[in-house]
Amino acid sequence: MAENEYVLGTDEDELNRLRRQHELWVLQAQDLWVRAGFRSDHKVMDLGCGPGFTTLELARYLGPKSRITAVDASDRFLRYLTARAQAEFPQARIKVEESFIEKMDLDEKDFDAAYCRWLMIFVPDVLGALRAVRHHLKPGAVFALQEYVSYEAMQVCPEIPVMERVLTAIFKSWKDQGGNPNRGRELPNLLEQAGFRVRELKPVARISRPNEPLWDWPTGFFGNYLPRMVTQGYLSAEDRLEFERDWKAAMTKPGSFFLAPMVIDIVAEAI
Ligand SMILES: C[S@@+](CC[C@H](N)C(=O)[O-])C[C@H]1O[C@@H](n2cnc3c(N)ncnc32)[C@H](O)[C@@H]1O
Repeated sequence: MAENEYVLGTDEDELNRLRRQHELWVLQAQDLWVRAGFRSDHKVMDLGCGPGFTTLELARYLGPKSRITAVDASDRFLRYLTARAQAEFPQARIKVEESFIEKMDLDEKDFDAAYCRWLMIFVPDVLGALRAVRHHLKPGAVFALQEYVSYEAMQVCPEIPVMERVLTAIFKSWKDQGGNPNRGRELPNLLEQAGFRVRELKPVARISRPNEPLWDWPTGFFGNYLPRMVTQGYLSAEDRLEFERDWKAAMTKPGSFFLAPMVIDIVAEAI
């Protein structure tokens, strides 16, 4: 099977980054599942599941008899999930499906709920993807999404000038592959066009001070992605060095903090 690598890659480093990211965002995910009304007897889709940290978390949350279908484009991530699901949740029915969301055509089309986190920001044909999701849900089913809505909110404070150049590079590199870091701005309207009624919108803003666990999140992202953007020509080697120097300095600056890119929680219902 050919490996479909998204813009951040699917190697060991990215898998480990996604694991730590999940540990730091698990409460926000669970909070959304509660508000969306995910239930133990629901048949659930985890879309753009990656290595399945959210899928395994859903299995833990929904209980031992949960029924979850996890969909992702990456064969490498899905193999990791399959091994862990078999070892850790032998009673649950966790299926994995390799597919691009826009092209998804599963045998089952009667799901009660769907979840995705940080997927639509990478998808070129979002309306097509939302229509494909709708096609797999029962009427009345719930679709909960967590995506970025104001990515340029990201900053280190006191501000570092190189952040603007890093943000420009991130926007360009994602957009060149059909993604959009601010996809959350388009989603409510597109969901309504795709056969959903938007039930709830909620911004999620977070701050981390150095030495708080959440500080690991930007550190891991910049550590993995900046070298990649330099290799691909989106960021200069000098900007990378300046950023790394300023990021390290922020660790010891009095009162410094990291302002996370703002996330939007969306709960929609299939009409
Ligand atoms: C940032 S990761 C998020 C993984 C997981 N949702 C989480 O929150 O931990 C994005 C995932 O989306 C997948 N992906 C990107 N574009 C996709 C598409 N068009 N169809 C299916 N999967 C896609 C990538 O392979 C990757 O696993």
